[in-house]
Amino acid sequence: MVMQESGMWDSSPNFGTSPQMFVQQILSEFHLRKEELLEMMRRIQQEMAKGLRLESHQTASVKMLPSYVRSTPDGSEVGDFLALDLGGTNFRVMLVKVGEDEKRFWKIATNNQMYSIPVDVMTGTAEMLFDYIAQCISNFLDQYNMKDKKLPLGFTFSFPVRHEDIDKGILLNWTKGFKVSGAEGNNVVGLLRDAIKRNGDFEMDVVAMVNDTVATMISCYYEDHSCEVGMIIGTGCNACYMEEMKNVELVEGEEGRMCVNTEWGGFGDTGELEEFRLEYDCVVDEMSVNPGYQLYEKIIGGKYMGELTRLVLLKLVNQNLLFNGEASQLLKTRGSFETRFLSQIESDTGDQKQIYNVLTKLGVLPSEADCDIVHLVCESVSTRAAHVCAAGLAGIINRMWENKCKETMRITVGIDGSVYKLHPHFKHRFHTMVRELAPHCEVTFLQSDEGSGRGAALISAVARKMAS
Ligand code: GLC
Repeated sequence: MVMQESGMWDSSPNFGTSPQMFVQQILSEFHLRKEELLEMMRRIQQEMAKGLRLESHQTASVKMLPSYVRSTPDGSEVGDFLALDLGGTNFRVMLVKVGEDEKRFWKIATNNQMYSIPVDVMTGTAEMLFDYIAQCISNFLDQYNMKDKKLPLGFTFSFPVRHEDIDKGILLNWTKGFKVSGAEGNNVVGLLRDAIKRNGDFEMDVVAMVNDTVATMISCYYEDHSCEVGMIIGTGCNACYMEEMKNVELVEGEEGRMCVNTEWGGFGDTGELEEFRLEYDCVVDEMSVNPGYQLYEKIIGGKYMGELTRLVLLKLVNQNLLFNGEASQLLKTRGSFETRFLSQIESDTGDQKQIYNVLTKLGVLPSEADCDIVHLVCESVSTRAAHVCAAGLAGIINRMWENKCKETMRITVGIDGSVYKLHPHFKHRFHTMVRELAPHCEVTFLQSDEGSGRGAALISAVARKMAS
């Protein structure tokens, strides 16, 4: 092999070496060594500790928001509850029946209806958004003939909220591409109640508002009482867990425990991720509606993973390492590479059919070698996401382990979200890395089913019992 003069490496690829090696070199940046992940984990833990303390809470990138959901509920009301779920591009209304059987387990039956949120509503005013929500509820009640009932309602609202109580909390900031004016800084339950009044068509008793991570944890808790962590790996990424009250300085009282919504998606917003972020991460961030915010989430969340992949593909094309150096117009278009394509491509069983299908839809005619490279790119982006996410969860679990001072700790993590559920390999890579980074803990992962809605209803049922 002819050695290249130094300097040539910087500008253009060296075709004296195989193109695969250049591809691998570019993709190797996505690989994080265990020591790097442990370092990331320690930094997350530091921000978590800062977020919990009164004097450092303001400047912490991980906000650690108290949920007002406390440990071990002792019973709940039974009956019909309405659950609302707002957190992505869809809004869901659900009827949940909470009851008891001989084994004292909660039985839940649901009817539900999904409504898509029009783009102009997602980027309009708070009044428009909440009026739309009230309309959807009205439509749902019509459908099930329930307009005359004043049902208790649990609201899963999957954004950062500073609670003052279980049914009162202000929206700190929107995430995941929402940009509705007039909501930040306001009590979300108040906005909902006002809209229901304006609608005038039905009455509701809004009992509780919870984050989707909290709802997921609670819904899994009823299946497995060791469930003390809730997680979402979907459009966005976040986790909650049960923290000792004495550490939750934002809420008075020392006894028992409270579920804390970490809002860890904001990790990195005060510089903690700088040496880990790649050029693609910076572009995704700059082009988002909230540049400089949610940097950790932008590495993992389904809202961003497709776009990250597209940017890597374009880089390879520009270096003449892919598609003969030519990208289609569609591939050059922002947002054209959807996150679900990663799942599709990584499901390939070796015949390249799936990869070929995705790429031809994007207007490129790939060679076999191109298909292999695209597969590798997807694998690199999604594996990094799984490992980075594992660093976060290990941060929480190891913290809980230290709190308990136990030799080994058994813990269950309730999880929901499209990336976790639909990607063919994410789960496995994520689980394996969590176990490696938290070796003292026996972790069980429990996939939640409709957790967002069921959890909100169960929390409302408990809140009603406590209020009565
Ligand atoms: C975003 C939101 C957070 C939510 C997560 C998953 O990170 O800020 O509240 O839990 O997405 O939906």
